Amino acid sequence: MVPEEAKSNPQPTIRDLLWGFAISQAVYVAAKLTIFDFLGDGPKTSGELADSVGAHEPSLRRLLRALTTVNLLIEDNGRFAATPMGEQLRSDHPESWHPFALGVGWPVNWRPWGELEKTILTGKPAFDQVHGISFFEYFGQHSENAAVFNAAMTSLTNVDLRAILATYDFSEFGTIVDVGGGNGALLRGILERYPQAQGVLCDLPSVVANAYAIRNTAVEARCKLVGVDMFQSVSAGGDVYILKQILHDWNDDEAIQILRNCRQVIPAHGKLLHIGEVLKPSNEPDFAKWLDLNMLVLLTGRERTEAEFLELYATAGFRLTRVISTGGPTIVEGIPV
Ligand SMILES: C[S@@+](CC[C@H](N)C(=O)[O-])C[C@H]1O[C@@H](n2cnc3c(N)ncnc32)[C@H](O)[C@@H]1O
Repeated sequence: MVPEEAKSNPQPTIRDLLWGFAISQAVYVAAKLTIFDFLGDGPKTSGELADSVGAHEPSLRRLLRALTTVNLLIEDNGRFAATPMGEQLRSDHPESWHPFALGVGWPVNWRPWGELEKTILTGKPAFDQVHGISFFEYFGQHSENAAVFNAAMTSLTNVDLRAILATYDFSEFGTIVDVGGGNGALLRGILERYPQAQGVLCDLPSVVANAYAIRNTAVEARCKLVGVDMFQSVSAGGDVYILKQILHDWNDDEAIQILRNCRQVIPAHGKLLHIGEVLKPSNEPDFAKWLDLNMLVLLTGRERTEAEFLELYATAGFRLTRVISTGGPTIVEGIPV
């Protein structure tokens, strides 16, 4: 007999697990064709949508029909509408997943995942084998693809921002340095909330050159944009150093180097905040374990447990003071020792 609990919260079957790849690619293609944008002003037939996006109507209809099974679309009398979850795939949604969908499903990411077996057998990132170059070097050479990656990261930050601001009080900090801050979405959100604070956005020169979350906004006058290689140095003068989704890109030696460069410049009263995933013990639901595999496929990095953060921080001259769950990412706070 199926237990009542399992009936209301059904676990995926082996078939569901194996077909996860198809769902991922179907969501990606619908997002890439901007189907959810075209549904923004109301339900449409597959014919109307096919005309709008230039698709083969019978094939598009089958894609749309499949997406009704995963709570992204509903079909009523031959017209398709976005569900509330599907609306989050509209590019103009304030917490849009559209850029992230593009970053997950595109060939730059999809092809290395197709070589997961090689990574598991060799311990080396499939990304390098597929693209012939490492992850961030690749984006340094392919600016149009770098824009897709940076937009995907920015969209995650836009989703996380509310939870971070609701959980952590930044009011004690005069100058906030975001190391590897991408386009500056997190820093802008913090500076908007704290009008007395100054910001410094540090990232690779090619990334800060396109810091569109900061440029031409109300916070631009309070924010310096600094091109750095964080393995060489990070900007001095911060009261807090933020690393959001940074250390998981790198192995322990690389992560310690970044932390040591922060330790070099952080004042005695300063704080270090790593914002990202903290692995839970095995057997608990934990999306971070899938991100951990993503780091294995794409980069040299890994997700880490609290004990592993404690050790990294200690090696680089920080004491871990608090681990704060925001309901989204987790903040691992440290102080210099
Ligand atoms: C995973 S993204 C995180 C971006 C941002 N913090 C966020 O959460 O949206 C990693 C960031 O590290 C930056 N990065 C990679 N290598 C770097 C380096 N050597 N020096 C400075 N930044 C670097 C990338 O450009 C990218 O913006």
